[in-house]
Amino acid sequence: MQTVSDITAFITGGASGIGLGMARAFAAEGAKLALADLDETGLDEVKRELDAITEVITIPLDVRDREAMAGAADRAEAELGPVRLLCNNAGVGSGIGGMNLETMSYEHWDHTLSVNLGGVVNGVQTFVPRMVERGGPAHVVNTSSGSGLAVTGGAQFMYCASKYAVTGLSEAIVKLLKLHGIGLTLVSPGFVDTRIAETTRRLDPAEAAAEPMDPAYKEKLERFEKLFEPLGQDPDEVGRMVLDAIHNDQLYCQPDRLMAEPIRSRSEALLGAMPAETERDRKMAEAIEKARR
Ligand SMILES: NC(=O)c1ccc[n+]([C@@H]2O[C@H](COP(=O)([O-])OP(=O)(O)OC[C@H]3O[C@@H](n4cnc5c(N)ncnc54)[C@H](O)[C@@H]3O)[C@@H](O)[C@H]2O)c1
Repeated sequence: MQTVSDITAFITGGASGIGLGMARAFAAEGAKLALADLDETGLDEVKRELDAITEVITIPLDVRDREAMAGAADRAEAELGPVRLLCNNAGVGSGIGGMNLETMSYEHWDHTLSVNLGGVVNGVQTFVPRMVERGGPAHVVNTSSGSGLAVTGGAQFMYCASKYAVTGLSEAIVKLLKLHGIGLTLVSPGFVDTRIAETTRRLDPAEAAAEPMDPAYKEKLERFEKLFEPLGQDPDEVGRMVLDAIHNDQLYCQPDRLMAEPIRSRSEALLGAMPAETERDRKMAEAIEKARR
């Protein structure tokens, strides 16, 4: 998509952080915005800011709610015109309780997977058939994470499960979308200076049940947060990078190099775990090549 000028963009998690960074970048190029989020106060603030630049509507929405998502799509299209740019961006961490084998619960699993993966599924299922029916140009942006490409440490196991799924969904659907003139960008941020820790704590239904936190773990977490706090990337910069990726119809948008080494080691470990090539492998490769033609 060469420009987003005059098109309608629908952004989930648009009240804060990376979603807001995208909203600002798109608005600067003249896109109309439908911003959807659970955080109504945040939405009001953002509307006041962006109203001066472009047409903006805000929609209180829980991305897990399929009916509400369809209603939000209807409203956005009635008020701003067809949504040609969809950003499935709302997300949460797993919560402290969900990062330990001793405290994890189905509540943590359900929450992490239903927001981070379910929200993207609901966005795709709601908007893509409308885009296909109208034909391109159109574009989908899915926010995964560096944790959706490789694992560092192990505590983020629920978050990684949800984000790997977003990566897989996006990589698998991109070719089908292309047949209809619809592009897709998978954005996998590294470490961005947003409210994600606060959002995760605010929304985690099992947070209270996870207290009290093990003091040694709490201390480690605080040391970790202090060390990285000053290094967070500006979410507005990420927003501008996503816009560039849309202009260039790029599948991958990698805002930083944080995961370069883990991705390399993972790829090497996977390739290293494969047996030596056999006649069957060569025949299989030939069959795949023929099937592609
Ligand atoms: N901040 C980072 O370092 C980082 C790194 C990699 C990936 N990400 C991903 O980026 C995306 C945006 O996160 P962020 O860092 O900007 O955090 P953020 O907390 O600043 O913004 C996320 C927004 O999503 C909203 N949200 C959460 N659950 C929702 C739901 N069920 N329905 C609707 N809205 C909901 C929140 O209210 C919030 O406004 C997430 O998918 C996150 O996993 C962030």
